[in-house]
Amino acid sequence: MPYSPAEDRYSKMIYRRCGKSGLQLPAISLGLWHNFGGDTPHETKRAICQTAFDHGITHFDLANNYGPPPGSAETAFGEILATDFRGYRDELIISSKAGYNMWDGPYGEWGSRKYLIASCDQSLKRMGLDYVDIFYSHRFDPDTPLEETCGALDHIVRSGRALYVGISSYNSARTRQAAAILKDLGTPCVIHQPSYNLLNRWVEKDGLKETLAELGIGSIAFTPLAQGILTKKYLGGIPEQSRAAQGKSLDPVTITESALASVRALNTMAEARGQTLAQMAIAWVLRGNGITTALIGASKPEQVVDCAGAIGNLAFTAAELAEIDRISAEEDINLWARSSAE
Ligand SMILES: NC(=O)c1ccc[n+]([C@@H]2O[C@H](COP(=O)([O-])OP(=O)(O)OC[C@H]3O[C@@H](n4cnc5c(N)ncnc54)[C@H](OP(=O)(O)O)[C@@H]3O)[C@@H](O)[C@H]2O)c1
Repeated sequence: MPYSPAEDRYSKMIYRRCGKSGLQLPAISLGLWHNFGGDTPHETKRAICQTAFDHGITHFDLANNYGPPPGSAETAFGEILATDFRGYRDELIISSKAGYNMWDGPYGEWGSRKYLIASCDQSLKRMGLDYVDIFYSHRFDPDTPLEETCGALDHIVRSGRALYVGISSYNSARTRQAAAILKDLGTPCVIHQPSYNLLNRWVEKDGLKETLAELGIGSIAFTPLAQGILTKKYLGGIPEQSRAAQGKSLDPVTITESALASVRALNTMAEARGQTLAQMAIAWVLRGNGITTALIGASKPEQVVDCAGAIGNLAFTAAELAEIDRISAEEDINLWARSSAE
């Protein structure tokens, strides 16, 4: 079936300025980490992307290694760009990243100039693009001078491969260093991508939100639903079709009794607000404008619709926020803690 996007898509979403840049991002963005590899039917991928765009989600986030196998999410998205999204490139913000293991040998991971530029070229080829809108250093590399990593990002922009650059999972101190180097090079750091949700609040302890506000850098919070824990799906056990059943990034042992107790209490609160738990979890991440956009994932189009509905109620009273702090305990679910500890 040929696809044409919903005409009212821009009235269904709100757009927020990314730091002090000229770039505006939808309050909800879609990531293709899971459910876009070779193990998911192409029709499902198409339906998820189409539904997102129909709801005004203009930002699609990728990385070199998303799959499985690594690279296959970019290839699939390239097909969607060439078919469904053909003619809409200028309405889309597409990002990719390099930093984690992508190919064998010493040049296939971390933060060297060699790796970042070669990987960016591979990503462009897989997606059939001339440029990505945002290119990220996916994690801080303790063994490569930050000047080299940032110099590669600057080169990627100057050579026309990307319009903006960002960093992911860097802590406040490293963010300040990278931002200063990039500013000197004349390619500002426009966006930071940290993990952040009700059960993983490292950015608050680190002071990252304050750092980003001070530096005028925007932010895109990934795993706002804690990979699905912050929905009702695990309250009655682990469903067969869920991410926790797949033996991938969501280890069932991390869905503890204490996490489920938080989820139960949060769900009751979400119902009282007239929202689903997923919607409240996303609204909480976006509260107070500290985070520009919430970067969700989805295994079905219906989840995108539910998540997009979060913008219907983004306001919290002080009493609600205090209650959320009381009923939700931090869990040991931050898989990216090592990167932000360096
Ligand atoms: N920079 C980095 O290092 C980094 C790391 C990780 C992720 N990311 C980015 O962040 C994106 C999002 O990560 P994520 O997929 O873990 O985010 P998430 O939104 O926390 O979790 C997505 C999962 O939650 C479930 N879900 C989503 N909406 C739902 C709803 N309305 N109702 C019930 N369940 C719902 C689905 O699980 P089921 O599959 O079980 O249905 C879905 O796959 C990634 O795609 C990637 O772009 C970046």
